[in-house]
Amino acid sequence: MLLDEIEPLKQAALAELKAAPDPAALDQTKGNYLGAQGKFTALMKQLGALPREERPAVGKLINQAKAELESALAERRVELELKAALPKEPTDFTLPGRRRSLGKLHPLTQVTEDIVRSFRKIGFVVADGPEIEDEYHCFDALNTPADHPARDSQDTFYLNADEKALLRTHTSSVQIRVMEKQRPPVRIIVPGRVYRRDNPDATHNPTFQQIEGLYVDSGVTVGDLKGTVEFVFKELLGEGIKIRFRPHYFSYTEPSFEIDFSSPMTKKMGKEWLEIAGCGMVHPVVFEKVGYDPEEWTGWAFGFGIERIAMIRYNINDIRLFYENDVRFLRQF
Ligand code: DAH
Repeated sequence: MLLDEIEPLKQAALAELKAAPDPAALDQTKGNYLGAQGKFTALMKQLGALPREERPAVGKLINQAKAELESALAERRVELELKAALPKEPTDFTLPGRRRSLGKLHPLTQVTEDIVRSFRKIGFVVADGPEIEDEYHCFDALNTPADHPARDSQDTFYLNADEKALLRTHTSSVQIRVMEKQRPPVRIIVPGRVYRRDNPDATHNPTFQQIEGLYVDSGVTVGDLKGTVEFVFKELLGEGIKIRFRPHYFSYTEPSFEIDFSSPMTKKMGKEWLEIAGCGMVHPVVFEKVGYDPEEWTGWAFGFGIERIAMIRYNINDIRLFYENDVRFLRQF
């Protein structure tokens, strides 16, 4: 009887698909029962031989069995695919984990932050100004005349010849911007990027960083300047360093000095003294430009390159290393 064949055939199919070891074998089983030449297909074909009134009931049973088989096949396929996706080797939970490497601050940022921290201890605050400047704030207000060589287009990046917009050549322009807005006392430091038309070599780069300092109050002296600079540089580079002031010329200070420093490191570099900064007492003309009475107020200012300090601190002999973003270099700091 056709009716009696359905259940055993289904059981045989279920047993076979449970035993299928992989998806290929499962496909084989599916073909054997449900394919064009499959055993259930053959049963269907025999339906025609049954008396007409029995056909619907038997047909329904065959279809039910086929549907059951289809879902068992799908279930088994998922099972086999999961099994295939499992790692072949057992997992060794005692192996070290994979660590994501942490980034860190750039050496120039570290040096800047250390300098800022030292100045904060003695009451200075950080000020900021634009990198795109005008000639007035970069030069004129700093008592730098129109024919000064620093203003030459050979030395300065001008953005627009008519309006004379330029990339600031030093952070000194921020002295002016702060004093224009604020009455004394002023105690600021200004870390920031500056731009000059230099060809890159071991000690020059057209973009570099400076820190400017400005202190204005009544009765400020060169002694205050020297004491402050000494305090900060000793914090930064160690008690073993020596500092000296050497007369120099800047148009926005009078008197003006260059600051040299000496340490076991500079001696290793073959130099007793290395110049690191410019400074001086703020010129009366600068005070007049910002509306401060030079008879009432006195002050000092300084500016130095951050790269220079970082090179001394970390014993680096080429400034360009700071900008190449080579992680083998950066990782060392
Ligand atoms: N602006 C000078 C430079 O870029 C550095 C400097 C010298 C800044 C003397 C000052 C100063 O504030 O008083 O070389």
